[in-house]
Amino acid sequence: MANTSFLHLIDCRLCVNIDHVATVRQARGTDEPDPVRAAVLAELGGANGITVHLREDRRHIQDRDVELLLNTVRTFVNLELAAEDEVISLAESWKPGQATLVPEKREELTTEGGLDVSADPVRIADAVARLQGAGIRTSLFIDPDPAAVDASVEAGAAAIELHTGEYANAPHQASADHELARLEDAATRAAEAGLGVHAGHGLTYENVRPVAAIVECEELNIGHSIVSRAVLVGMERAVLEMSALVREARG
Ligand code: PXP
Repeated sequence: MANTSFLHLIDCRLCVNIDHVATVRQARGTDEPDPVRAAVLAELGGANGITVHLREDRRHIQDRDVELLLNTVRTFVNLELAAEDEVISLAESWKPGQATLVPEKREELTTEGGLDVSADPVRIADAVARLQGAGIRTSLFIDPDPAAVDASVEAGAAAIELHTGEYANAPHQASADHELARLEDAATRAAEAGLGVHAGHGLTYENVRPVAAIVECEELNIGHSIVSRAVLVGMERAVLEMSALVREARG
């Protein structure tokens, strides 16, 4: 079983979501880029955890990736999954360090909203009970609403991940400030109820600071922006290496 007893020792964990490394691989159906290698490099860069979303349609991360990551990652794996029997059974057998329950719609580009815990409280509470019964710390990805925080407490979760999408997509500063205040209030409410507070979705190099500054926030999950930056900061070296091969072959 994964040891997550060290989690509280890190002030605010940065968990790197590597789904989109697998998205690029799946676009060609080959074996590169390998999310496991990306996870190792993310850890060398200081990631405190590796997050992957095993979607029902397996559009990016595959079962084999999760199994390899669980054997390779030195920090911990945060497995995002829907409250569906098939993936919960896999999580029960894999025992990642942490599970985050997320809503899932086949047609969505990415996770579009938080879990509506009060719409289906028994199903969510059952999923939490199964995962935590297997020794997996379980978080619920919710919108920053007081009712959603309260419903997460009722569901027996150990933590919540506050959906930062509305903040990230705010059209102007006043609405960003409003969304930040909602995140702060939800974080306070959750921490007072004894829940761990995580946050993520749509966070970028430009907008991360105010969320990272929320004192109760103990974990950030960031994917698209980091993978996007990695493509650009790695491009120059990648082309230099290929160019050197081509020139070498031409004598
Ligand atoms: N947290 C959750 C629950 C998510 O579903 C996602 C997207 O997969 C993220 C965080 C990361 O979002 P982004 O890729 O926009 O950084």
